[in-house]
Amino acid sequence: MNVKPIVSFNGTKEQEQELRQAIAQHRDERGALMPILQAAQRIYGYVPYEVQKMVAGELNISISEVYGVVTFYSQFSLYPKGEYQINVCLGTACYVKGAGLILEKFEKALGIKAGQCTPDGKFSIDATRCVGACGLAPVISINEDVYGKMTEDKVKEVLYKYQK
Ligand code: FES
Repeated sequence: MNVKPIVSFNGTKEQEQELRQAIAQHRDERGALMPILQAAQRIYGYVPYEVQKMVAGELNISISEVYGVVTFYSQFSLYPKGEYQINVCLGTACYVKGAGLILEKFEKALGIKAGQCTPDGKFSIDATRCVGACGLAPVISINEDVYGKMTEDKVKEVLYKYQK
């Protein structure tokens, strides 16, 4: 099974060529799938369905095998990152102070789930582990901006700064 992409795939010929080179370089190695997917992640910034299909076809394996690896390892992403990358810390200190509800509020406000990107490419949301600022829990960041002692009520206000 595959997750339906909500962002259309816009890979270029150059990217495809680069990926085909990586496939040619690794295809005869044992465990070729990992370095090929790492190359795909680097080239495209994520590993969409179209790329999984190409890799599966080239390696003569099922797309569900490729999908299984992409979704198992956190180094791979099924979606591109947004212009603004929202990271919500779900480490213990943040979680006990309501980070889960804050994450839900961002998801609702943007109409996407953690790990996804809005169709206009503007925002993506990720849940992260402890970012080492537990004294400020709950903590979120948007690109380089860090927001401590975050609350559900501040979600819309914070988003607004980036929506303008
Ligand atoms: S648990 Fe969130 S910063 Fe440590």
